Amino acid sequence: MEDETREHVPVLVDEVAQLLAVRTGDVILDCTVGHAGHARMLAESAGESGLLIGMDVDEFNLQSASQRLEGCPARWRLFRSNFTRVDEVLSEAQVPGVDVMLADLGYSSAQMADPGRGLSFQSDGPLDMRLDDRLEQTAADLVNQLGERELADLIYRYGQERFSRRIAGAIVQARRNRRITGTGELVAVIGRALRVDPNSRASKIHPATRTFQALRIAVNDELGALTNLLAKAPRLLRPGGRIGVISFHSLEDGIVKQDFRARKSDGIYDILTKKPVAASATEKERNPRSRSAKLRVAVRLES
Ligand SMILES: C[S@@+](CC[C@H](N)C(=O)[O-])C[C@H]1O[C@@H](n2cnc3c(N)ncnc32)[C@H](O)[C@@H]1O
Repeated sequence: MEDETREHVPVLVDEVAQLLAVRTGDVILDCTVGHAGHARMLAESAGESGLLIGMDVDEFNLQSASQRLEGCPARWRLFRSNFTRVDEVLSEAQVPGVDVMLADLGYSSAQMADPGRGLSFQSDGPLDMRLDDRLEQTAADLVNQLGERELADLIYRYGQERFSRRIAGAIVQARRNRRITGTGELVAVIGRALRVDPNSRASKIHPATRTFQALRIAVNDELGALTNLLAKAPRLLRPGGRIGVISFHSLEDGIVKQDFRARKSDGIYDILTKKPVAASATEKERNPRSRSAKLRVAVRLES
């Protein structure tokens, strides 16, 4: 899923609006505010008495969010923070509970399109992949330092790549000569391992897709952060409050599904989306990013 433009178009906007059902005066927490596409829309519904708290790890996206929020009727505050620290952010903002919570996971189109971040296999750039440039470990560190077995396991587990061993073997062989530092170099190594031309459009998905996904998930601890956020959510939501999560691959969606189900059986949540909500055919056509998006929403019960 890489054929997207630099401008970030938020996904499932109508579905988010309908299922999160913001009321006047609501406190909204956007855990991944990005360019504030969803946040602005939700904050408009909360009106002048509403409050939006937006979080993101990316300084650039936060600047973009603050521009988008200019003139917004609701009060708003933005925080540069990982959503694993959501409780600290809310206590700093002196917000004891929220009515609506959204996490639109992963990266924005602008992040993917910036070769300097090394998220894309379509342009050559440093093998970085950090969404938060304060993190110490880059994708190049993982690729050059992990043992062959660990690398293969990582590519298999987070990329669901069935050729993980072959790719890990080729990486270890290539790095014997010199450190792999660029996305282009890694793409070439993967192409050699799978005996395909990475530039040919023969297969439906690019041969580097799964390996790049795996490295990005590992560098940003995406699954750990999501699990952590979901564990905290019931304590942050007011009774009747709603949580929506938009995920972009089955590993994330599986975590959300399991979490909501477990809390439903504990009497903590009711699930509003029996099946995950996907984009309409028109939206998929218009915005390639929406093709893999899945939205799940739950409501916090009184207890
Ligand atoms: C898909 S974009 C969100 C786009 C946003 N909904 C909009 O409409 O503009 C995901 C954003 O989440 C941020 N992000 C990813 N993981 C994060 C985390 N653990 N904590 C905080 N922000 C995170 C990324 O930097 C990115 O800006």
